Amino acid sequence: MTDAEFWNGRWARGETGWHEAEVPAHVPALFGDLPPTRVFVPLCGKSLAMAWLAARGHEVVGVELSEQACRAFFAERGVEPAVRHDGAFLVLSAPGVTLCCGDFFALRPEHVGEVGAVYDRAALIALPRDVRARYARHMTALVRPRLFVQVLYERVPADEEGPPFSVPRAEAEALYGDTFAIEWTGSRIVEGRIGPMHEHVGVLTPR
Ligand SMILES: C[S@@+](CC[C@H](N)C(=O)[O-])C[C@H]1O[C@@H](n2cnc3c(N)ncnc32)[C@H](O)[C@@H]1O
Repeated sequence: MTDAEFWNGRWARGETGWHEAEVPAHVPALFGDLPPTRVFVPLCGKSLAMAWLAARGHEVVGVELSEQACRAFFAERGVEPAVRHDGAFLVLSAPGVTLCCGDFFALRPEHVGEVGAVYDRAALIALPRDVRARYARHMTALVRPRLFVQVLYERVPADEEGPPFSVPRAEAEALYGDTFAIEWTGSRIVEGRIGPMHEHVGVLTPR
């Protein structure tokens, strides 16, 4: 099964336990004072944070494998997006939000443009360990944000099962520490589909 088949299957069956029905509190807390900029949301699903960011004047660019998720984001707001093809991507857009349906690893800088901030929630936990290293390398080659918010989930004791994969703070520090200074703003325990996980929220700023 390809990754696309796996994730499309999860969306088709409604197995999207990661989706939050409300904008997480860390979003207004960390983006509330950010002047309008372009915000990249990798592996975005149909995250409500994107609508929150767009409503505050940011230009949101998301990437998501599932076309169903991308279409649902607009349909749930009663918005008919413009649709175009751009290489490997189907691009859906409406004022304030552009969603590139396709593979994050196929994104090039021209797809995302100059990005001021990144909101990355639950992307690393979707990927196995070796792919996470490739993901971080691609991210740092793609964008140079002034603010990079990273939301991780970790199981204690850790194991290698997933998705969701357990990603400790030390792994994010190893992946991004050369490029960004990382400040962990908070952790809490959340109940996941397969048991409790620690949610860690980090703020990365360029070194
Ligand atoms: C755990 S969910 C998190 C979704 C979103 N960030 C949120 O907080 O609701 C991971 C998402 O990544 C998508 N995905 C997985 N691999 C991807 C890839 N290589 N490129 C783009 N999207 C991908 C999946 O379809 C899924 O919607």
